[in-house]
Amino acid sequence: MTVESRDSARMSTSQDGSTTYLSTGALVTRLVRGYVRPYRLTLGGAILCMVVAAASQPLLAWLMEPVVRDVFINRDQTMLVLVPLAIMGIMVIGGAANFGQSVLMNWVGLRIVADLQRRAFSHLIHLDLAFFKRNPTGNLIAHLTSDAYLIRQAASSTLTSLVKDLLTVSLLVALMFYENWRLALVVFLVFPMAAWPISSLGKRMRKVITITQGEVGSFTTLLTETFQGVRHVKAYGMEIHESTRAERMIERLFALYMKATRTRAMTTPMMEGLGGIAIAIVIWYGGSQVIAGESEPGAFFALFTALLLAYRPIRSIANLNTALQEGLAAAQRVFAVLDQRSDIVEKKNARSLSVNGGGIKFNAVKFSYIDETPALGGITMEVSAGQTVALVGPSGAGKSTILNLIPRFYDVDSGSVEVDGQDVRSLTLSSLRSAIALVSQDVALFDDTVRANISYGRPDADINDIIAAANSAAAHDFITSLPDGYDTLVGERGAKLSGGERQRIAIARALLKNAPILLLDEATAALDAESEREVQTALTMLKRDRTTLVIAHRLATVRDADRIYVFDKGRVVEQGSHAELLSVEGLYSRLYALQFVDQVAPTNAEISDEIDEAISLARV
Ligand SMILES: Nc1ncnc2c1ncn2[C@@H]1O[C@H](COP(=O)(O)OP(=O)(O)OP(=O)(O)O)[C@@H](O)[C@H]1O
Ligand SMILES: [Mg+2]
Repeated sequence: MTVESRDSARMSTSQDGSTTYLSTGALVTRLVRGYVRPYRLTLGGAILCMVVAAASQPLLAWLMEPVVRDVFINRDQTMLVLVPLAIMGIMVIGGAANFGQSVLMNWVGLRIVADLQRRAFSHLIHLDLAFFKRNPTGNLIAHLTSDAYLIRQAASSTLTSLVKDLLTVSLLVALMFYENWRLALVVFLVFPMAAWPISSLGKRMRKVITITQGEVGSFTTLLTETFQGVRHVKAYGMEIHESTRAERMIERLFALYMKATRTRAMTTPMMEGLGGIAIAIVIWYGGSQVIAGESEPGAFFALFTALLLAYRPIRSIANLNTALQEGLAAAQRVFAVLDQRSDIVEKKNARSLSVNGGGIKFNAVKFSYIDETPALGGITMEVSAGQTVALVGPSGAGKSTILNLIPRFYDVDSGSVEVDGQDVRSLTLSSLRSAIALVSQDVALFDDTVRANISYGRPDADINDIIAAANSAAAHDFITSLPDGYDTLVGERGAKLSGGERQRIAIARALLKNAPILLLDEATAALDAESEREVQTALTMLKRDRTTLVIAHRLATVRDADRIYVFDKGRVVEQGSHAELLSVEGLYSRLYALQFVDQVAPTNAEISDEIDEAISLARV
């Protein structure tokens, strides 16, 4: 992969993922095709209910005519009974239809949310590491939660408004024209005037909501980060600092929500004002027609009732735009994530790795996470099948980066990485990764049982194999002393275990995988001398028939590696066996001497190196 192509991939995701801009039409088409169409039957049922509910409204208005004419003016006894019964019947049927459309519509809306969440999650989980490094967790959470619900809201209210409200209004308008077309015409000259301000409010709404959602994402990130790192917050006495940071964001969110509320609320007085004008005109003009004897009072009251009944659906049609804009902005963000493509993709003709001992070769590998700052500046390195090779060197030298390139978490900028003579880019990711067991620097346990954590990656593993792996990792004893043994829940990210216990579970997990290639990144750094010795013994046995790459700061643990590569600033500066490296006065012998300070008096420069070293150890 070239530097430019990685850069352009990065360009297409700004932090809120909104750079791939889709037009409104494209968004709607995509939503309807992908998420609404599968539920067209249920939707059909909802629409049927909406038609019934919509039809009940003009019927009610129309009944005002016999109420006035037959009951009040003609004093007809039969109609006095019939009309109220009819009104009751219509309202019951209309109510039932409303219930039906509401349940069915919400079902469709919630299905849309569920489908979006499912698709977004399974898409996200397949994206490469680089994507997760550039996108804050909080934003991703916001896309799957609040954005998904905004889309549902928009889809439900748009469909309801477009069908039920629009139909209700059309029928009511038709009735008004039927009752008194001249009066109806006058009323409806007022309404188109509402269109312009309402649409401009909608545009403003969309802008505010986009900014707000971005802030919601940052807020979620801040919360996750602070609560997860609460120990550090307390240790450094940063509670007030964090409160201030959170308060600032909360106030910003408050202001944004208020702005959105004001914008949304502005449609109400606008509609009320217009409604008032319409009502005034109807009473004045309609009243004068009745007084002049040009029209019936019954017709007037039917029209007037229709006008009052039209108010609510017209209002929700007017608000439709804002809900729609919110939903479209959310869809924009979710689709931007769904459109993300991994940089790490399998070739069309990718082959399965054919394992032959698991030999690893780096050919002049150059790599950088960020352009212009190379993490590896031309590494050539060979680990023969079955060998154990150690990578040592100061912090930030690029050791973990080497391990990242073997399972192809990232692609090299130039050169190549081969496993058993096969370029990792020519292989299927699953075959490559199933040949590798990795214990990384930052152990990741899941909030599940010890047993599930060890068998992660091999969920069907036999309990005896799990126990054997735990034994080799010197973990069996502490696990059996946990309250529920192998069924003990480890807490979020393994919080209920000590650092060393977490590490041993991670080692057991890697051992259970029984892969030909074992990558250990500071795998025993958090262990006490005793358990480290136990784990080392187990590892020595395991290393025998597999290729192992070990990273260790404690050089004593890598003394008997077949070969040691000494890294500094992304380059190999020395290589050889422990004895060979000690015999040359280089970085390795200096680092080694520092770890046995009793024997060698350090110089000032060495002391400061040692401090660096101590800091990096503390960081691990
Ligand atoms: N995801 C990342 N994005 C950008 N830069 C990174 C990333 N990961 C590592 N780096 C940079 O790459 C360089 C090499 O990092 P690497 O993790 O390989 O060091 P290391 O030798 O494993 O150090 P340590 O001993 O502290 O674990 C460092 O300068 C680091 O800042
Ligand atoms: Mg590292």
